[in-house]
Amino acid sequence: MKRVINYYNTLAREYDRIYRNMEYMRAVEYKVVKNEIKKDYLILDVGCGTGEHLVYLRDFNTVGLDISIEMARRARDKSGKFVVVGDGQHLPFKSRSFHCVISFFGALNHGDIERVFKEIRRVLVKGGIFIFTVANLYDLKWIVKSLLRRGWRDTLKAMKRRRGDIRKVIDGRRIKVNTRFYSLGEVENLLRKHNFHIKYTFATSITNSPLDNLLYKTFLKYLGGYIGAVAVKK
Ligand SMILES: C[S@@+](CC[C@H](N)C(=O)[O-])C[C@H]1O[C@@H](n2cnc3c(N)ncnc32)[C@H](O)[C@@H]1O
Repeated sequence: MKRVINYYNTLAREYDRIYRNMEYMRAVEYKVVKNEIKKDYLILDVGCGTGEHLVYLRDFNTVGLDISIEMARRARDKSGKFVVVGDGQHLPFKSRSFHCVISFFGALNHGDIERVFKEIRRVLVKGGIFIFTVANLYDLKWIVKSLLRRGWRDTLKAMKRRRGDIRKVIDGRRIKVNTRFYSLGEVENLLRKHNFHIKYTFATSITNSPLDNLLYKTFLKYLGGYIGAVAVKK
């Protein structure tokens, strides 16, 4: 995880500026979370980044966790909430501590997702809610772009690998991290394997195109940029 930590420690400085225009994605995330949580819930945000959701949920009891100390520091400063530096694969909490765990926009794209699912299941109370999004393997916008840039052979190759890189330049320094893509079917299978009941799945997108509104819970969700689920610990 060293590369992941280094990548996000460097990105932390510019994260809020780079990702400031994702109103549509945030609106979907907020809507999904607000529909599921109750006032007395204790909520854990795994991979809280700079604290987007901790700030949004300021009136709720929340704890943030991030593997990057620079992200965690910003999240704490922005939200005033308790933020832990830790790895979603080894959560530093007692079993059955939280009523809800959220994890949005890529925190689960690195590392062993099954290990994270196991840990999240462990720290949730019975009937507790798990809400998350991951990068979609069948992101239509990415597929079209890739076909135009690389052609169908390389696009298919990249899709078969289910892995790719995210690259950024921060203060003139190139940084890169490996990321994993998932299909909605794969996510559903993993949730079932780890004994979650799937309430529903949904999709969203980092762009603000009005067409993205068609993704949320329709059959087009299979083609969204980010796919997610609301799942309940059985
Ligand atoms: C793209 S950011 C998303 C941040 C935030 N959830 C949001 O929606 O803006 C991904 C975050 O996940 C964190 N992360 C990646 N792998 C992690 C892991 N195994 N455990 C905890 N945090 C992790 C990164 O440090 C980064 O802050």
